[in-house]
Amino acid sequence: MSSPRSAVPTAAAVPSPSAPVTGGSATSPTAPTVAELMDFVRSTARDEALIASLPLDPEGRTWIRLDGPGGSEAWLIGWPPGTGTGWHDHADSFGAFTTAAGALKEHSLAVRLPTDGWKTLELTDGVDRSRELATGQGRAFGQNHVHEVLNESEVAHAVSVHAYYPPLPRIRRFSRTGAVLRLEQTERPEDWQ
Ligand SMILES: [Fe+2]
Repeated sequence: MSSPRSAVPTAAAVPSPSAPVTGGSATSPTAPTVAELMDFVRSTARDEALIASLPLDPEGRTWIRLDGPGGSEAWLIGWPPGTGTGWHDHADSFGAFTTAAGALKEHSLAVRLPTDGWKTLELTDGVDRSRELATGQGRAFGQNHVHEVLNESEVAHAVSVHAYYPPLPRIRRFSRTGAVLRLEQTERPEDWQ
């Protein structure tokens, strides 16, 4: 699995992964800010009738498409115990998500991955981040955010609300072995959902 070290580009830590998000370079005058996406996912997560309307399936994730603010793409997602997304990114979209029921774990990378032209990448030490998102807790993220989200519970479903802007153009999926991240495929959102 290991490539010659010299052939593996290294992703170094970026100084401030939680720096304010500018809203992207390709935004329209009506584009939402990341704060507006955060407000949207938080307020939606408090809509008990909506959350309760999501069908839950013990065999796999379930989802409902929502109307996000300012033309953003939004989803209500149900996570059976033990399910997760695997490592992926969201290209140039920024976004926010929050847990509406249960708890989610997010593992993320404080790196900016090269856009194209690589297959494997050796991560430097210290780029891993992890956070627990209990019910009512969420986070915003900037462009090129790389993460995986998991429901680590053995018994309880989790439900979350997500919003992305611009609407997801593509998602890159990665596998990971130790410090080596491997690009597995690039999916359109229809594939992902
Ligand atoms: Fe994601």
